[in-house]
Amino acid sequence: MEVASQAKAAVVGAGFLGREVARALGSTRPVIATTRDGVLEGAPPGVEARALDLLHASAEDVRGALEGAQALVLCYAAGRGQDRRALYVDGARRLLEALAARPPRRVVYTSSTSALADAEGWVDEDDARWPESERGRVQREGEAVVQELCGRLGIPWVILRLAGLYGPGRGLGRIYRDDPTAILAGDGMQATNLIHRDDALAAVLAAVDAPPELSALIHVCDDDHRPRREMYALLAEARGEPPPRWERAPSDGQVHGKRVANRRLGELLGVRLRHPLHVLDP
Ligand SMILES: NC(=O)c1ccc[n+]([C@@H]2O[C@H](COP(=O)([O-])OP(=O)(O)OC[C@H]3O[C@@H](n4cnc5c(N)ncnc54)[C@H](OP(=O)(O)O)[C@@H]3O)[C@@H](O)[C@H]2O)c1
Repeated sequence: MEVASQAKAAVVGAGFLGREVARALGSTRPVIATTRDGVLEGAPPGVEARALDLLHASAEDVRGALEGAQALVLCYAAGRGQDRRALYVDGARRLLEALAARPPRRVVYTSSTSALADAEGWVDEDDARWPESERGRVQREGEAVVQELCGRLGIPWVILRLAGLYGPGRGLGRIYRDDPTAILAGDGMQATNLIHRDDALAAVLAAVDAPPELSALIHVCDDDHRPRREMYALLAEARGEPPPRWERAPSDGQVHGKRVANRRLGELLGVRLRHPLHVLDP
């Protein structure tokens, strides 16, 4: 059965993206939004903040925190201080196993394009290659746990592989280093893969209300793969600074690295990007 659009939803990890998901869902249905300590600054009406720490929660804690939620959006992130495997792999398993007796009707899991191999050129959702980095492999294992458990429990799932997330308060200018005289590593010709929070939000909302027959892995990335060299130069210009200097000049002018293909986002979720090109706020 499709998740009724007024049925209760829960957002686990109401941070930069999750908070906006909770706000948007809260305008049409009751929403539980969790942080580790249960504090959610400026929680909008319709959104009930609760505490849930997946590294320390018992099955009973999970069930208590998410009680009655029929749609589950998993938006937690380990940040710098937590063991990534403990959260993304063991935490996902613990959470879904705790709900086995009364499973939700939809799970939307936000993953990362770091789950993709460091390939050259276009990479779509059918690409089976695993990344080499431990960070990426843990992301991929977290996805596998979500797929496996949702499959076993009969829960329709959508895994959204998000590119680098930016937006209000996390502008792209922020990633441009503070010292304009520093020399950046490499030649700056790697392709960029980014997504504005507005578009990531649209993808999550569409996935929450997707028909029950849809279970899919979907890339969430904009259409703009200009290399870092060009993007940083534009950000520097917007700040009135000279372009950054790179260790090496581009050898052949070609863009290298992976470009995350996003066709399924429109085909399966009907999302039309609001910001197909990077918003280059200084
Ligand atoms: N940021 C990026 O560039 C990027 C790129 C690709 C994919 N993603 C994915 O997008 C999603 C949202 O990222 P974001 O940037 O919005 O994250 P964020 O702002 O860092 O927020 C993370 C949220 O997860 C909660 N959390 C942290 N540890 C937890 C734990 N042990 N148990 C339960 N909840 C926990 C945090 O709670 P507290 O408020 O209590 O800390 C916070 O609400 C994540 O799945 C992330 O992996 C992000």
